[in-house]
Amino acid sequence: MAETISERKRSHLELCQAEEVEYTGKTTLFEEVDLIHDALPELAVDEVDIAIELLGKRLRAPLLITGMTGGTEDASAINRGLAQVAEEHGIAFGLGSQRAMQRTPDLAYTFEVRRHAPTALVLANLGLVQAAAQSTDALERLARAVGADAVCLHLNPAQELIQPGGDRDFRHGLETLVRLVRELPLPVVVKETGCGISRGVGERLVAAGVRRVDVSGAGGTSWIKVETLRAGAPERELGALFGDWGIPTAAALAGLRGLGLELIASGGIRSGLDVAKAIALGAHAAGVALPVFRAYRTGGVAAAGEFIERLIAGLKTAMVLTGSRDLDALRRAPAVLGSRLREWVIAGGGGA
Ligand SMILES: Cc1cc2nc3c(=O)[nH]c(=O)nc-3n(C[C@H](O)[C@H](O)[C@H](O)COP(=O)(O)O)c2cc1C
Repeated sequence: MAETISERKRSHLELCQAEEVEYTGKTTLFEEVDLIHDALPELAVDEVDIAIELLGKRLRAPLLITGMTGGTEDASAINRGLAQVAEEHGIAFGLGSQRAMQRTPDLAYTFEVRRHAPTALVLANLGLVQAAAQSTDALERLARAVGADAVCLHLNPAQELIQPGGDRDFRHGLETLVRLVRELPLPVVVKETGCGISRGVGERLVAAGVRRVDVSGAGGTSWIKVETLRAGAPERELGALFGDWGIPTAAALAGLRGLGLELIASGGIRSGLDVAKAIALGAHAAGVALPVFRAYRTGGVAAAGEFIERLIAGLKTAMVLTGSRDLDALRRAPAVLGSRLREWVIAGGGGA
């Protein structure tokens, strides 16, 4: 019998908690970004300002917990716990794909986090392939049902191609985006799920009217690896071949500069220094998934909150050490880019 979405979600969570699901042969390339030390910062840590405006809401730090889950009892508890962390720390929270709730309306409660995050920026989530098959009204209802402020549409062709029974047809994506950006009365964020967005795709997104992109690049969680762990032959063989496929997060960010997109950096963000480097490369905010999920699994809301606090402490330290009083100043801070990163950017058609 075919696996249900809930069964799949359950196995994704188990694998992400316990197995090696991150890239091993590829990094984010943030190690190829060096910020220049300011020995005379003339700043106190306490006056460093890390607040931003994102999708019409004020955040106390430029951070999101990116979309992960929903659709099972366990996922419901994770969503509630992580939404509470977002509320307490003044950051944004993304729901996982709401496909399960659309198929089985009884599962809506597993995505309902507003009671735990009454003021936080909450993002709805659906795959572009699923969104293509439904009306704009249906998608709006999906987002409104959970009180979301915006809709994330995820692109994940690499994951689907390795997933047993995954989607195999990725046509009509761009025309769906044109329709949804024009018709949805909520802002749209286009995100990858760990393989990154190239400059060429960025240009097509801009032409489609998209203004916000979460690059979700390679170097962190690999969905090809997750699906490979679940696959039988022949997908397992394909998964092994493509295990390190994708555009490193730093390369995706640097490559998308100058297109006028508001960029969110996710995929392998593991420290406050990664966040600072992402912002210096042009990101407006940074997102994390796997480490905050694992922290929650280990020590609940408190441990997940401590992880977010560590990100903030690292970011503020980098800001003082680059003499950046606020995030705009950090965005202007000079950065040294290594040759490997520059090769990626030049090959992708961006200016290094
Ligand atoms: C357990 C788990 C479930 C995820 N489910 C979704 C999802 O439903 N929709 C989505 O857009 N991204 C999903 N992602 C991808 C993340 O939002 C993120 O883009 C990716 O994991 C890279 O970030 P990371 O390296 O910090 O994990 C999921 C990630 C994890 C770890």
